[in-house]
Amino acid sequence: MVVTGMKQMWIGGARVNAIGGRTRQVINPTTGAVLATVPEADADDVRAAVGAARQAFDGGEWRRLTHRDRGQILFRVAEGIRGRAAELAETDSRNMGKPIVEAEFDVTDAAHCFEYYGGLATKIHGETLNVPDNAMSIVVREPVGVVGQIIPWNYPLLMAAWKLGPALAAGCTCVLKPAEQTPLSALILAEILSEAGIPAGVVNIVTGDGPVAGAALVEDPRVDKVAFTGGVDTGRLVMAGAARTVKRTTLELGGKNPNIVFADADFEAAVDGALFGAFANQGEVCSAGSRLLVERTIYPRMLDALAAKVTRIRLGDPMDRETKMGPLVTEEHMQKVLDYIDVGRREGHRVITGGGRATAGALRSGFFVEPTIFADVPPGSRIGQEEIFGPVLAAMPFDTEEDAIRIANDTPYGLAGAVWTRDVFRGVRVLQQIRAGILWLNTYHSTYNEAPWGGYKQSGFGRELGPYGLDAYLEMKQININLNEAPLAWY
Ligand code: NAI
Ligand code: MG
Repeated sequence: MVVTGMKQMWIGGARVNAIGGRTRQVINPTTGAVLATVPEADADDVRAAVGAARQAFDGGEWRRLTHRDRGQILFRVAEGIRGRAAELAETDSRNMGKPIVEAEFDVTDAAHCFEYYGGLATKIHGETLNVPDNAMSIVVREPVGVVGQIIPWNYPLLMAAWKLGPALAAGCTCVLKPAEQTPLSALILAEILSEAGIPAGVVNIVTGDGPVAGAALVEDPRVDKVAFTGGVDTGRLVMAGAARTVKRTTLELGGKNPNIVFADADFEAAVDGALFGAFANQGEVCSAGSRLLVERTIYPRMLDALAAKVTRIRLGDPMDRETKMGPLVTEEHMQKVLDYIDVGRREGHRVITGGGRATAGALRSGFFVEPTIFADVPPGSRIGQEEIFGPVLAAMPFDTEEDAIRIANDTPYGLAGAVWTRDVFRGVRVLQQIRAGILWLNTYHSTYNEAPWGGYKQSGFGRELGPYGLDAYLEMKQININLNEAPLAWY
């Protein structure tokens, strides 16, 4: 499979190098070796891409296509993804370090996402309002225009699908900037989009870093909307940059999500769910269950069970089907996660398992970190409050339902969370009190294209996926039709 080599980006339907001729090496985090080389876009490249998207939008070829034709093209995109599923999964696995089994799941999900929005494209409709006049007042939905889409490295293909699917269904044109660490699957997707019949200029993919290419996209006055997924600090910059030209903005910014286990929960299911919530995708997940709140009566038993079962999380080459955790995405990110482990230790918190870089055998050349669990973490401590975005779980006991709710809500974030209990009344009662956008009862991480994805508080605003995600790419227009044939004669 051709993961390697020199790649080009996509602007105006053509494969292009960066205008300035600069390139960036893309690293395989399992080996530290160069995987491929991509163009390194600067502001001029972004301006060219926005120009192509603007022309494609204003020219109207895409937005004036019938909704059915647009939907059918998205169905073809889904088929195209399935046709290159193995290549896409291998690309994300090698480029990002996620286990191949998880990467395959992402590919399937990405195809479903385009299919979902292909179906929804024909269900975009307006309304007729009853107004106190002899008039017909109608509401029509129109595409928001040119959208700038900035995505992170943790789900490279899937994040591209979440951004492009609804935007294309709405009739928008797009400039997508993948994370500089993981641009490769998005470039394959560009080929699939073009083969499926997406016209030139409707989707442009620029590979470049955040402060240069990302910032240029946010600042360009010809961009009508910015959709961003990433860290909260970057989100603040994006919001401030978008403010200058009052761009529509949606932000998905991560979390420090509570996973709450009551004593009456199915114990084995909760142990498994705690580990899966914290360590799936190496913990590099915005919705990771990175705080484990356990009712005190089962807390010691829970810690023992976690320490025993964590040994089944096999670290290794992500291309190996038995691997449960691959390397972290970059050396820099690994260092950030290791620094947090140090902070936890220095603040005196107890490590019950893991606690460092994993270097046995072949792991030595990659950016592997052991699945790490801290016990008795004070809710207000740094590792109890800050998003680590790696395989580090902070466990803490609680006494009462009220305690659990208070601790759960006591962070600046509000993205996701879960409750484990056999008492459905208590489960729902607690979930209703949690100030977060995505919640689970007796499970963790299940994510549906049909359901709204996004956060409360500093986890961002706006929702992706479902019909809500489509709304984020639509403007609303009221049209009032006078039905009085006799003129009003104001003057
Ligand atoms: P980041 O937020 O800096 O990067 C995400 C995207 O934003 C990338 O495409 C990047 O190129 C772009 N970007 C960076 N600076 C920009 C700027 N000034 N203007 C416009 N775009 C910009 O995330 P990073 O640095 O990779 O990770 C830092 C932390 O952010 C992580 O440790 C984690 O806590 C959090 N994060 C959260 C994610 C989520 O899914 N919500 C995903 C990735 C990171
Ligand atoms: Mg950054």
